[in-house]
Amino acid sequence: MINAIILAAGKGTRMKTDLPKCAFPILEKPMIKYITDALDKTMVEKRIVVVGYKKEVFYELLNDCIFAEQKEQLGTADAVKAALNYLDDGITLIIPGDTPLINYERINSLIETELMLNKDITLLTTILDNPTGYGRIVREDGKIVRIAEENDAYSDEKQIKEVNTGIMVVKNSFLKEAIHKIENNNSKKEYYLTDIIQFTTDISSVILDENDILYGINDLYTLSMVEDMVRKNILKKHMLNGVNIINPNTVTIYPDVEIEDGVTIYPNSFIKGNSIIKKGAIIGPNTELSNATVLENAKVVHSVVYDSTINKNASVGPFAHIRLHTVVGEGNRIGNFVEVKNSILGANTKSSHLSYLGDSQIGNNVNIGCGSITVNYDGKAKNRTVIGNNVFVGCNSNLIAPIKIEDDAFIAAGSTITEDVEKDDLAIARSRQVNKKGYAKKYK
Ligand code: UD1
Ligand code: MG
Repeated sequence: MINAIILAAGKGTRMKTDLPKCAFPILEKPMIKYITDALDKTMVEKRIVVVGYKKEVFYELLNDCIFAEQKEQLGTADAVKAALNYLDDGITLIIPGDTPLINYERINSLIETELMLNKDITLLTTILDNPTGYGRIVREDGKIVRIAEENDAYSDEKQIKEVNTGIMVVKNSFLKEAIHKIENNNSKKEYYLTDIIQFTTDISSVILDENDILYGINDLYTLSMVEDMVRKNILKKHMLNGVNIINPNTVTIYPDVEIEDGVTIYPNSFIKGNSIIKKGAIIGPNTELSNATVLENAKVVHSVVYDSTINKNASVGPFAHIRLHTVVGEGNRIGNFVEVKNSILGANTKSSHLSYLGDSQIGNNVNIGCGSITVNYDGKAKNRTVIGNNVFVGCNSNLIAPIKIEDDAFIAAGSTITEDVEKDDLAIARSRQVNKKGYAKKYK
């Protein structure tokens, strides 16, 4: 069986924050989730996560794994010991929870190497221009003889640019014996997993390409570098899939977003959460989408959309705010300074300027005039506005909810509507105009 142990018990002292390091978000997704998501696509059959510091955080974040507890953080070898009881026969991938740049292809190729060569250890190494902080791979005649940790490395060893990624595949029969032999006679008085290589010469290694670097995240500066790499990788994936991203340096797309080919994304746009964007849609510039579904050929420009759906051929913005389970209907036009909250709009409806539509259900072919408002809050409760098909709401109208405006009704501009309006009726609710002959002249 192919097992995996993810090491995530450490506090991450060098991060200087309270959140356990491996739960730290990168583009809002916890570091460790990058690893478990990658493992989902590999041949790993069983995964054990070693937790300790603030373990509850991980219980919340992860499912489909076994948790092993390391009571005291005595080092990476001690962390592996905490997981031993859960291991079957076979081999185990050991992976530190602070290496989110790992992907499933690299994991599979490391496991395949181990399965092919049948070594005690197959180690993944990477070449870094600045290897400071990492375990240096010390080789003699090409063979790995020692991993020198930063604090214990001799000065000539510190020059070595090949470093340990912390990721290795080990034979369980070997691991179960050797792990107990590791001692903590080093500068940090920790049990280093890297010392396991002393107990065998049966080691192979996979060295990552020089352009294919893999950082471990120990501080917030490295986190920002990795975040930038993750961001660029995501953009590249979408661009190669046919998404046209203009000035990608200014665009951020979060990891779980799905975008079809034929979408165009303009500068300064953020697309987050589980957003889905379909063919032909245009997003941005200056647009933020979170958990938004934007269907074919819809357009969202200079706007914010949260937890809502924009149907086909609809146009949103500039400067619109769509939120909380709103459905913007097919072919709708939602224009500048319009906020739509928790509302469902039918097809070909328009609200082009300066409106608030909240807690409402609005039919097809409705025109919401400039400045009109569904008055949904009476100071105590939120109430619903229901508007039928083909309704015309004149400019600057207040619809005091709960209220129902039936099909084909007409609301005169400037009305404050407090009673339901029946089909085909015209409602006027404003004081009648009086023109006083010559009064203006007199007044001036
Ligand atoms: C480790 C490696 C180093 C390698 C680097 C790659 C050791 C001794 N050193 O160093 O060779 O170059 O990763 O990034 O293994 N953890 C526990 N329990 C503990 C200690 C750590 O679960 O008692 C976990 C941490 O939460 C972390 C991982 O193990 O996810 C690695 O620990 P970290 O302290 O980051 O090790 P590095 O100093 O980065
Ligand atoms: Mg680390």
